[in-house]
Amino acid sequence: MSDYTLSDETGAGATRLPLMKATLGHDAIDVRHLLDGSHVTTYDPGFSSTASCSSAITYVDGEKGVLLYRGYAIDELVEKSSFVEVAYLLLFGELPLPKELAKFEYDIIHHTMLHEQITSFYHGFRRDAHPMAVMLGVVGALSAFYPDSINVYDPMQRLVSIDRLVAKLPTITAMAYKYTVGQPFVYPRNDLDYCSNFLHMMFSVPAEAYVPNPIFTKAMNALLIVQADHEQNASTSTVRTVGSSRANPFACVAAGISSLWGPIHGGANEAVVAMLQELGSVAALPDAIRRAKDKNDPFRLMGFGHRVYKSYDPRATVMKRIYGELLDELDLGDDPLFEMAKELEKLALEDDYFVSRKLYPNVDFYSGLIMKALGFPINMFTSIFALSRTTGWLAHWKEMIEDPDQRITRPRQLYVGPTLRSYVNLDARSTTNGTASKMPSGPAMPSEASIVGG
Ligand code: SDX
Repeated sequence: MSDYTLSDETGAGATRLPLMKATLGHDAIDVRHLLDGSHVTTYDPGFSSTASCSSAITYVDGEKGVLLYRGYAIDELVEKSSFVEVAYLLLFGELPLPKELAKFEYDIIHHTMLHEQITSFYHGFRRDAHPMAVMLGVVGALSAFYPDSINVYDPMQRLVSIDRLVAKLPTITAMAYKYTVGQPFVYPRNDLDYCSNFLHMMFSVPAEAYVPNPIFTKAMNALLIVQADHEQNASTSTVRTVGSSRANPFACVAAGISSLWGPIHGGANEAVVAMLQELGSVAALPDAIRRAKDKNDPFRLMGFGHRVYKSYDPRATVMKRIYGELLDELDLGDDPLFEMAKELEKLALEDDYFVSRKLYPNVDFYSGLIMKALGFPINMFTSIFALSRTTGWLAHWKEMIEDPDQRITRPRQLYVGPTLRSYVNLDARSTTNGTASKMPSGPAMPSEASIVGG
């Protein structure tokens, strides 16, 4: 396949556009110099057909339902690897040798504590603060506590920041939970592995010894591996954009947390369980399907659909299996929410509206049920996702900084606003000359005093 040539309908002004070859998936037309030879840009809101970068980290085949981390299939990594080893793979490109893994694990385990003053940050939040709001604030503030690793031009400082963030996110996440339930913060333990340590910081209390349950640790490992990376999703693209201005990595990860929090991105796992709980029973599912198809009804099936997967999300397959095993191993019996989820999936995948639009369960459809079974409160689900995705964000941040092609992100636009016009003095303005204010005449702002809470 040769390069592409762009010309207008008369054939004039032809611009040659080189074709960039992929190792897997779609090749790309290199349009970075399009404006040098023409007067048109490309228009692609949401970047459905745009490659913002070249990357060697994760490959997703949406049609075949394939997910590879550095070429390794997600289900094989869940079965054979650990989250820390997968973090190494995503960050550095290869499965570690025994000595490399041992050093990475040692470095991570020995950087899990936080500067003690950071604990006072938590006490500035209301007790009912959403854990994502707390994580966002604390992670964003880390650059003020670790100024020795914010020079992004220094490869060693980049590595130190990466280790600090991978190591400290479990501690920060667990502290966000402990604060909201009024329990004392639990310090990390260096004798525990990454997942057991996180569960220990989440669920142990000073009043009794805590012995991590290996079944929970195994499910936690799978959950963190599955959610670690997913190529150029909204939050990863956010981290790349913020990092392109050479902002420090703590600020970049805080930006990723902000984007992931959105209910149609990482917030969907929380929304899935809330949706199932609100529906209440299998009997309510047919009406839920009807509402999800009704364009006049804002209700959507949370956990369904995906920008890239037009077949079953392989992560949903893994999550569904892990959840079934968890129910058996914990002898939880038939969780009504699981029965509802399986029935909802069945009804949707028999309905032409979903089948024709290729709307399948995504990673969030079952991951929330696993977190609920592990004892996490629903408002912690997205925080767990952020804990896992921090590794993917950092892998992309590192790749972006090291990519000679990458420049500060500065997209163009299709301008559809007013052409040049003259200023109209205040006393001359009226609704007739089109300068009527566009601010909606909404309700008066609530008085700050009316905001109460613990
Ligand atoms: C994640 O990008 C990633 O990789 C994300 C992620 C990751 O690992 O980082 O995989 C994690 O964010 C998973 C997605 C979690 N979100 C949800 O489960 C929320 C529910 N899903 C939708 O909001 C939606 O499917 C998106 C946001 C996931 C995808 O949106 P798109 O690609 O913009 O698709 P769309 O909104 O244009 O929908 C296409 C059609 C529309 O109908 P028509 O206009 O063609 O008639 O499908 C419909 C939509 O109305 N549709 C749904 C639906 N999702 C899409 N209808 C009912 N229920 C749904 N869930």
